[in-house]
Amino acid sequence: MSHAAPAPVLTIDGPSGSGKGTISALVAEHLGWRLLDSGALYRAVGYAAGMAGLDLSDVDAVTRCAQATKIHFRAASDGSQTRVIVNGHDATDELRTETAGAAASAIASMPSVREALVALQLGFRKAPGLVADGRDMGTVIFPDAAYKVFLTASAAERAKRRYKQLKEKGLSVTLGGLQREIEARDSRDASRAVAPLKPAEDAVLVDTTGMGIDEVVAKVLAVVQP
Ligand code: C5P
Repeated sequence: MSHAAPAPVLTIDGPSGSGKGTISALVAEHLGWRLLDSGALYRAVGYAAGMAGLDLSDVDAVTRCAQATKIHFRAASDGSQTRVIVNGHDATDELRTETAGAAASAIASMPSVREALVALQLGFRKAPGLVADGRDMGTVIFPDAAYKVFLTASAAERAKRRYKQLKEKGLSVTLGGLQREIEARDSRDASRAVAPLKPAEDAVLVDTTGMGIDEVVAKVLAVVQP
């Protein structure tokens, strides 16, 4: 009996505000592949830990929380943003805030929390293929992926994009404050001991500073369909 080859994977890693979320969703739609937003998993655990009143530096408690938290993605019926359901509650809006991002980054530095989320992430790899968006998709979770991209953009441009996104959602933020928060989060993500933010050796680097969405999507698609 022959074993079917594992479904192909395209990993898209990079710092916050590099456009990963938007680009990954568009590329997955174009290819007809599934999408894994791994950042949402870390945000969901940080959120669940906060809701349970846990101290975010308590590794044992946060690890138990990561193991117990039930996270589901539900496609919106009208084709808009996928909803993230955490322990039965639609937490999509709460998860997008920079506070949730900072909580995610804090708990994501714990190896036991990362370990608790591995099986869930591997489970997304199904035919016809998977687009995996995150920080360590090409280096740790899917090192054998056939296609790997690392998206970057200048810190100023990334802060501007996040500012626009959050403003559109009606949140009150300042550009300077956001840039400082993003830089602090990236420096923690890049300097942590486990699964730091860095390009896989075989990743194609794409600097999206000054590029439009369509142009970036075309560049990423060209990695899969040269
Ligand atoms: O991508 P997003 O901004 O939603 O990620 C939130 C945080 O989750 C990141 O700052 C990072 O600390 C963590 N993360 C991670 N590994 C991933 C995805 C996200 O450590 N694969």
